[in-house]
Amino acid sequence: MNQASRFAPRGLCAPSPRQSPLSPVSQRDSPVLVNGHGSGKVILLGEHAVVHGVPAIAAGLSLGARAHAAEGAPALRIEPWGVRVERGQATPLGAAFDALLAARRLEGPEPGRVREHAVEAVIELPGSAGLGSSAARGGAVLRALDAADGIVRDFDGSQSVALAWERVFHGNPSGIDTAVALSGGLVRFVRHPAPGARALAPLAAGRLLRLVVGHSGQSGSTKETVARVADRKASVPEAFERELSAFRDVVADGERALRVGELDALGACFDRCHTLLAGWGVSTDGLDAMCERARREGALGAKLTGGGGGGCMIALVRDDAGDAAVRRALAEMGREAFETTIGETKGGEIDRRETP
Ligand code: MEV
Repeated sequence: MNQASRFAPRGLCAPSPRQSPLSPVSQRDSPVLVNGHGSGKVILLGEHAVVHGVPAIAAGLSLGARAHAAEGAPALRIEPWGVRVERGQATPLGAAFDALLAARRLEGPEPGRVREHAVEAVIELPGSAGLGSSAARGGAVLRALDAADGIVRDFDGSQSVALAWERVFHGNPSGIDTAVALSGGLVRFVRHPAPGARALAPLAAGRLLRLVVGHSGQSGSTKETVARVADRKASVPEAFERELSAFRDVVADGERALRVGELDALGACFDRCHTLLAGWGVSTDGLDAMCERARREGALGAKLTGGGGGGCMIALVRDDAGDAAVRRALAEMGREAFETTIGETKGGEIDRRETP
């Protein structure tokens, strides 16, 4: 059974002076009708390396963003942030909205069908946390606008428009966040697929995966960490190629372990991946400490997830006891966390839930 819908009305709201990074927000607090949705995500293996052509494995969260587009002057309001932009506004959100509207017109399908609308979106995830909040927003806004115009795009068409939005926030995105925002599910993504192959492929996990997602309490800028890794590539190209190859191995080993349900082996891949990411300078003392503590409490593996430089880590746990022990330890460190379950059920439907 896909349990996502059971949890969909609950969400995690953006950090604000009055709210902690992962505090739940109910739908009553944010009464926006929905005709577009985008999923948040966790990257299980291969973030950053994916920008440079290595495959990565990610899973959609049922939490993400919801949006509604209706008749009105083109504008975008985001709740619970209380932010509103109009066309031509020189803020990142304004630029992203403009880029999305322009890409919608360029990508068709029939220029006459594409209109502009007033959009309201509700974001259920903290921003700058490595959970794909900006891509989820972009996906939800695009889908709401398309729904209002009766436009149905295929995945590649939607991905290309959503990327116009994402580039404003992330500079040189691989496309994994937008792809997962649009697809959800457990997937393998590669930025430059071989001719005839697809960028995104669904994955079936041999066993249900239980992850604790913990927030470091610091926000991270993916744009900055991606640029830091690009600097490393430019300054030590040979070492960088060797490191990319180590990433390639760990993603391949992790994919194998995931497919056959070898959780210990998958956990070991999480640890290896974290070490590689830390070597690229995209972890923080806070994330390292959280991963260390999760491992000490019995997690099978732990790593930062997403852009790093702050944001979230994930820990793979075996069962309820493991989940409780890791969450208790993170709480002792003053860190908020939730559990998400990822797996494959018959019919290819993804079973996932988030428990704040
Ligand atoms: C961010 O969620 C994932 C990164 O690999 C950047 C990207 O792929 O666009 C860090």
